[in-house]
Amino acid sequence: MTDKTDTVDIITGHRRMRRNRKADWSRRMVQENRLTVDDLIWPIFVAPGTNIVEPIDAMPGVNRMSVDKAVEAAKLAADLGIPALATFPNVDISLRDDTGSNSLAANNLINETTRAIKKAVPNIGVITDVALDPFTSHGHDGILRDGEIVNDETVAQIAKAAILQADAGADIIAPSDMMDGRVGAIRRALDAAGHQNVGIMAYATKFASAFYGPYREAIGTSGLLKGDKKTYYIDPANGTEAMRDAALDVEEGADMLMVKPGLPYLDICWRMKESFGLPVFAYQVSGEYSQIKAAAANGWIDGERVMLETLLAFKRAGCDGILSYFAVDVARILSKR
Ligand code: PBG
Repeated sequence: MTDKTDTVDIITGHRRMRRNRKADWSRRMVQENRLTVDDLIWPIFVAPGTNIVEPIDAMPGVNRMSVDKAVEAAKLAADLGIPALATFPNVDISLRDDTGSNSLAANNLINETTRAIKKAVPNIGVITDVALDPFTSHGHDGILRDGEIVNDETVAQIAKAAILQADAGADIIAPSDMMDGRVGAIRRALDAAGHQNVGIMAYATKFASAFYGPYREAIGTSGLLKGDKKTYYIDPANGTEAMRDAALDVEEGADMLMVKPGLPYLDICWRMKESFGLPVFAYQVSGEYSQIKAAAANGWIDGERVMLETLLAFKRAGCDGILSYFAVDVARILSKR
């Protein structure tokens, strides 16, 4: 019998949110988002030489690998079912100059890596970056003239570099430089060179972030970089500007969009997915990775659970996939479930 004074029962009795949460089976039944191996893109660092696996201090568990070792890593990733790799080169310091001219060498480190991986592991996707920062002596993503990162000259150069990367077998070109007009220029250059099937994953919104610190150690730009990247990356305060920037990439022919960094920018992931309907990827960047690793190493958090929670959060925010240094760890965990 209902007691009219039992307000709790009358008001909330039929709205108990906890009913669906009561057991593992029902929680699984109502789970809205799931992480699968198909969601993972693994960024790897390559270095000159052979038989080199060199730990990166600021990224525990991540190594720079020579091309032969990168090929082994690609095999491992393919065996685990990871769809694609994103490659970043630690270019020999003697090859870096003001204009990043080594980006235009057909046999540079990034292109040799692609060739070797595509030959040995043809079924894994290879995503290459065309930004100039691994190749410049000043660590900027573009050509530096009189204290300015010049836009149009940089765009012309990265469009040429994109052709060479596609010639080497890259499946997707991912420009991370944030120069204006680069997606359209790369698209036209690829098409003119017969690479109609090579896609573009635009770093549609790349923020001027402090989360990139460990990456700069990984590719050896931290000691080189003069000043900051605020004249070309987006101000972390600006969401609407980020959407306008992404809209241009869509107009210029991007096949996929990326948000970088990831977790602090989930609102942008969501807005982008809602607005454009294109595949959206988040890059869980080096600083995001290293914070989790460091806290876990100190016993302050459960590293594995936090890792999985962050990746699931990207799915909830509408992402179709995540570039993550955790990709292999996660793929192993998922394969045991
Ligand atoms: C630069 C570039 C950056 C990253 C990849 N390419 C940022 C930067 O150095 O400014 C960051 C990746 C990461 O932090 O994991 N084109």
